Amino acid sequence: MTGRRTQFRGVGAYLPERIVTNDELAARMDTSDAWIRERTGIRERRIAAPDEKTSDLALEASRRALAAAGRDACELDLIVLATATPDRTFPSTATAVQAGLGMTGGAAFDVQAVCSGFIYALAVADNFIRAGQSRSALVIGAETFSRILDWNERETSVLFGDGAGAVVLEACEDDPRHLLSTHLHSDGRHGDMLYVDGGPSSTRTVGHLRMKGREVFKHAVTNLTEVVDEALAANGLGPEAIDWVVPHQANLRILRATGRKLGIGDDRVIVTVDRHANTSAASIPLALAAGVGDGRISEGDMLLLEAMGGGFTWGAALARW
Ligand code: UT7
Repeated sequence: MTGRRTQFRGVGAYLPERIVTNDELAARMDTSDAWIRERTGIRERRIAAPDEKTSDLALEASRRALAAAGRDACELDLIVLATATPDRTFPSTATAVQAGLGMTGGAAFDVQAVCSGFIYALAVADNFIRAGQSRSALVIGAETFSRILDWNERETSVLFGDGAGAVVLEACEDDPRHLLSTHLHSDGRHGDMLYVDGGPSSTRTVGHLRMKGREVFKHAVTNLTEVVDEALAANGLGPEAIDWVVPHQANLRILRATGRKLGIGDDRVIVTVDRHANTSAASIPLALAAGVGDGRISEGDMLLLEAMGGGFTWGAALARW
């Protein structure tokens, strides 16, 4: 390895306190714990308190990531925050986190790629670091999807949850522990398969999430398999080189189907969808924090991160932790 690369220094996560079980949802709408578990693997999700904003979740996750990295916010020169549920249309949620951390220098902005947002934000920060424009970056995935769900629609409202995760990244030289590569894709022709039916320049309202679940499912398995193959090939690696897959957590059946197609066993996949449901851009850093926190992921492990979301957008990253 030569030249300047990006290294993970720490990860942090934050989940709202309130746990909502499938049974609680079944008491409110025509669904059941059995259907939700069988079709998605979800048992429960966290829902933000009425006064808890995306930036509040992001700020707490960021503080924990900085503590894990042994770094102070004033050492950062970049914040990239992935969200599809910002506090406000503007200013960015990243600048709210910046103010909360007491950081007055550097640059902070949001990235929007829905469920692929964390991979997109990671790729942006990695390119800033490799280009020499940044030395130390905070990359955050934070969402309050409970705010954009149509709670009268059982097809979508049972699938999502709220949460945030963050990583601290730093420039490194000649260290095998670094981000190997990131791979991003999008195809805007599929915009009406997973979208929010509102926005400032169209309906002037916030709107609600709408999804053609079965169609998204089919595209997800195909796109994820292709982008993972691309990431492995770009680094001359095979699936056996992967210690842990840290995937976006949309549906346990998608995780299992993708793993089977790639030849990566269930015992090498971090799963949090059962406890968190789909937290969109927050799901990968939340899963990473879970794997690191319980000791499954250890220094030097090869990680594969992958995600697919509305747009469609999808992507993957390979990193030696
Ligand atoms: O993170 C971004 C990417 N998002 C995803 O990757 C999500 C991808 N899609 C999925 O995860 C799955 O397609 C779903 C979990 C959304 C749905 O699973 P499915 O196996 O594709 O079910 P379906 O949509 O084909 O619906 C099957 C049945 C339908 O009834 P009929 O028409 O067969 O009588 C639905 O009305 O299940 C019914 N149904 C429900 N029943 C109980 C749909 N939602 C519910 C529900 N409770 N909550």
